[in-house]
Amino acid sequence: MWQSYISGVGAYVPERSLTNFDLEESLDTSDEWIQQRTGIVKRHWVEGGVATSDLALKASEEALSSAGLKKEDIDCIIFATLSPDHDFPGSGCFLQAKLGLEGIPAFDIRQQCTGYLYGLSMADSFIKSGVYKNVLLVGAEVHSKGLDRTPEGRNVAVLFGDGAGATILSRKEAGADTESHIIAYDLHADGQHAKELWVAAPGTGNGPDHRLSPAMLEEKLHYPFMNGRQVFMHAVKRMAESLTNTLKKNNVTVDDVDLFLFHQANLRINDKVGEMMGIPAEKVFNTIQDYGNTTAATIPLGMRDAVKAGKLEKGMLVGMAAFGSGFTWGSGLMRY
Ligand code: COA
Repeated sequence: MWQSYISGVGAYVPERSLTNFDLEESLDTSDEWIQQRTGIVKRHWVEGGVATSDLALKASEEALSSAGLKKEDIDCIIFATLSPDHDFPGSGCFLQAKLGLEGIPAFDIRQQCTGYLYGLSMADSFIKSGVYKNVLLVGAEVHSKGLDRTPEGRNVAVLFGDGAGATILSRKEAGADTESHIIAYDLHADGQHAKELWVAAPGTGNGPDHRLSPAMLEEKLHYPFMNGRQVFMHAVKRMAESLTNTLKKNNVTVDDVDLFLFHQANLRINDKVGEMMGIPAEKVFNTIQDYGNTTAATIPLGMRDAVKAGKLEKGMLVGMAAFGSGFTWGSGLMRY
């Protein structure tokens, strides 16, 4: 019987860091508004021709070195992103070429802020069924190039940051419960809410003719639209619900869990989830202050930072939860 475990973790954010103050003038916003509503203090945005797969490459290299593996040991890539290098092919192919891993399969998955947890379920299933031995699971985003960075887009533009997180899921013989392994995940989607947080164009759903037209650009349909209040409400409810179910199904209590890695969309969402579930604040590792919302990159980026900060060590029990566009949401449990 095979199990999967996280053998390596890495992350990367671009050097350019922008504080809320740096956005005040161009977006007609204020540090006070952003901090009070979201907890965000700064975020990183790329410069020049840097693409999503460039960030993913740096995170992947760190994950490989932390696992003590050579790149040739990787036999599958799963790439979660909503901000790909190009419309097609998927960024997994670009990353594969940059890593020089010709021939191995490369998946792109599109589950937005829940992308890492969906990818984790795929990597774990491939490994448990004996298909692959070492799967590189990356979440990476370059949001900055897709945001309306004018006052009209300020409700969304202040929230998102660029970055990448990568983990390597490796195969081992099933062992004691106390050994590192992925224990469980719980995944959901409800497409009825797809248009509460989405980018309409380019897309075949926009009418009879083209996927993208000057009229669509004029209407700013290529920028994200978000119904912030709806997203907030559903995020709190669904993250708490899914994580509670996962803990219960696995006979684990909040007290048993050493660390919680939540998606980072808004500090108030995470505080509310923590409050509803009775999780002590010090058990939740938040990174939104420094990065904003980095969507699919968030959980592995947080994992890397938690390790660096000495808050996450091998053998710890970790609870994860995320919510995002789709709507998609889910949770996971692992021995790190
Ligand atoms: N700076 C300053 N003012 C802003 C602003 C900004 N960046 N964005 C919006 N505002 C203004 C609005 O114009 C509005 O002004 P008005 O009252 O004069 O009309 C006011 O602030 C309130 O806007 P509203 O959108 O109702 O704010 P909110 O209290 O709902 O908070 C969010 C907005 C985005 C912080 C909040 O809804 C949220 O966090 N939602 C979840 C978002 C999320 O998680 N997204 C990612 C999903 S994974």
